[in-house]
Amino acid sequence: MKFFIDTANLAQIKEAHDMGVLDGVTTNPSLMAKEGITGHDNVIKHYKAICEITDGDVSAEVISTTVDEMIAEGEALAKLHPQIVVKVPMIKDGVKAIKYFTSKGIKTNCTLVFSAGQALLAAKAGATYVSPFIGRLDDVSTDGLTLIEDIRLIFDNYGYTTQILAASARHPMHIINCAKIGADVVTAPLSAIAALLKHPLTDSGLAQFLADHAKAAASV
Ligand code: E4P
Repeated sequence: MKFFIDTANLAQIKEAHDMGVLDGVTTNPSLMAKEGITGHDNVIKHYKAICEITDGDVSAEVISTTVDEMIAEGEALAKLHPQIVVKVPMIKDGVKAIKYFTSKGIKTNCTLVFSAGQALLAAKAGATYVSPFIGRLDDVSTDGLTLIEDIRLIFDNYGYTTQILAASARHPMHIINCAKIGADVVTAPLSAIAALLKHPLTDSGLAQFLADHAKAAASV
């Protein structure tokens, strides 16, 4: 399973990259705003800076909502760097735009997916990635992981090559359960990725090993 980090924070992207486990980055307009990245030139500069840190795919989301505008915006984003994936919302014009980008060989990530039907439409339009938001479904008392299972089944039934990018993952169990179900990619904040490292028995076991080693060395 690929690990993407869900942030526009350059320091966190670098930290995940330096751990050696980063396969790509997802951003969205809210994450860019959180880092104070505003204005066309700054946004462009920021996407390029992200592409310099990682070798993987970097999702850059369009702001427009009509097909012609999405195409113009997405083509400009795709020209920035070969790693850019144009992130397009799951609306009717978004599906049309994905179909167009696919025909031009431009990678896409269909975002804001909350149902299996939406995922099926994105796959039929040829999206590179489809992003079901599992955390936001959990937030409204709907099991996000069941959606990942349903999409996995549907894509496998018909051999769709669209990758399931489990998005809105908030904690380590989201990541582990997505891996069990067979999501192709999970995107999560650094805190959730780093939490996978932790186990109290690892910490106590290491402390014991080091203490025993020091005791044996002192007795020589
Ligand atoms: C997906 O690409 C989105 O950027 C993201 O995963 C949304 O996560 P949130 O629901 O925690 O905002």
